[in-house]
Amino acid sequence: MNPAGIPLALSYDDVLLVPRRSGLGSRADVDVSTRLTRGLRLATPVISANMDTVTESEMAIAMARAGGIGIVHRFLSVEGQVGEVARVKRAEALVIHDPHTVAPDAPLVDALALMRRHGVTSLVVAGADGRLAGLLTRRDVMLRDDATQQVRELMTPRERLVTGTPETTSDEATRLLRDHRVQKLPLVDAGDRVAGLITLRDLLQRAERPQATKDALGRLAVGAAIGVRGDFIERARALQEAGADVLVLDIAHGHAEHAVRAIGEVREALGDGTGIIAGNVATAEGARDLAEAGADAVKVGVGPGSVCTTRVVAGVGVPQLTAVMECAEACEPYDVPVIADGGIRAGGDVAKAIAAGADSVMIGNLLAGTPESPGVVVSRNGSKVKVFRGMASAAAAEARRAAEGLEETEFTPVVAEGVEAVVPLRDAVGSVLHGLVGGLRSGMSYSDARSIPEFHRNARFVRITPGGLRESYPHDVSY
Ligand code: XMP
Repeated sequence: MNPAGIPLALSYDDVLLVPRRSGLGSRADVDVSTRLTRGLRLATPVISANMDTVTESEMAIAMARAGGIGIVHRFLSVEGQVGEVARVKRAEALVIHDPHTVAPDAPLVDALALMRRHGVTSLVVAGADGRLAGLLTRRDVMLRDDATQQVRELMTPRERLVTGTPETTSDEATRLLRDHRVQKLPLVDAGDRVAGLITLRDLLQRAERPQATKDALGRLAVGAAIGVRGDFIERARALQEAGADVLVLDIAHGHAEHAVRAIGEVREALGDGTGIIAGNVATAEGARDLAEAGADAVKVGVGPGSVCTTRVVAGVGVPQLTAVMECAEACEPYDVPVIADGGIRAGGDVAKAIAAGADSVMIGNLLAGTPESPGVVVSRNGSKVKVFRGMASAAAAEARRAAEGLEETEFTPVVAEGVEAVVPLRDAVGSVLHGLVGGLRSGMSYSDARSIPEFHRNARFVRITPGGLRESYPHDVSY
């Protein structure tokens, strides 16, 4: 092999965006909305990584509320992962279609246990025939000390309730709740059977967060990861049933034959309703093969992640800027969006990734330290930190083994391609995303780009030297 024939590949630190004449008066005029997949739009082009120290329901709820989306990791039992997706779906909706109910003759102690178990502040009271009997709220159960007292004696009875029907619109619901000064609106069908519940809290959240990523039923959108072997089809079906909006085929070498084949197998099992994101790849051929196989988005990144050691351990990878550029070009004829996954350290990297052709970015590290990520805050050398680990790290493999209850002897040693580390405790997800998107908006305004497609067309890069990189960071100052 002739070394002179080896192509050069670049990463975020090797380039800068060149400022150009811009007609943009304000960064607020920049529209950062994008496509996650061929079928789903995001107001904020950021996705939380499907890692067990990054995305479960709490993170996914925060991401969707901020206009992005979270991908629930797959290192849970099928029921566990479905439970996380279901929790996101219940977090807010115009209509809760199957509200938690209690029987009128149930004792107070049972009602309190139900409220606690489901984390709700009210229960719809329904008879065995499903007909609405009343509503039990926190106010009704507060300071009651007779645990055997029946729900019917404490609830607001049917005849005093304000109700709607399954056809009630959000405007009508707002008017009813306001005029009657109540917080819950049970919905009943023609036979007076419980058909849903609208809450003031959900209506207020809708009004406050118009950018939130929602499904057609007004519920927060969420993605979930699956593998490409074993129970993956069964898992995919269960996740679709639970309402997952997109599935991510999560495999380190997405250009492996069986990974490409899995796209068709999942598509056949799920039909067209649920988006399929496939990855990870880092070459034009890889991206093209996934798009050809029917992926609705292609995830790009082999080794750029902050806790990845694939490049060290296996000597494999493509620096991320080049990988994104080549994959985006390859996906364009298929009209398939590209997700730049891994290696994002600041708003400038988000801007460079999107300028290079990505439609959105996936982030692990910067979100792992937020209060919404799984795991607890610990103290390390006087600072508050959270654990963050690569999904191919020995620590993650061991946690999976413990969760699956396998015997020590059944543990197949792996060559770890990731590490376990800690990251500083950060502000809430909403504020981290606000900072990153602020950087992106600024980057776009320097390129005279009002939208992401315009940014793709307008952006120009220069390659820089180590001297240029040094100049880019604060220098000749002390703190
Ligand atoms: P950041 O840089 O945002 O990257 O932390 C998150 C992405 O890293 C990938 N990932 C891994 N890659 N070994 C790898 O080679 C690992 O153990 C590993 N765990 C996560 C993944 O693509 C994630 O989205």
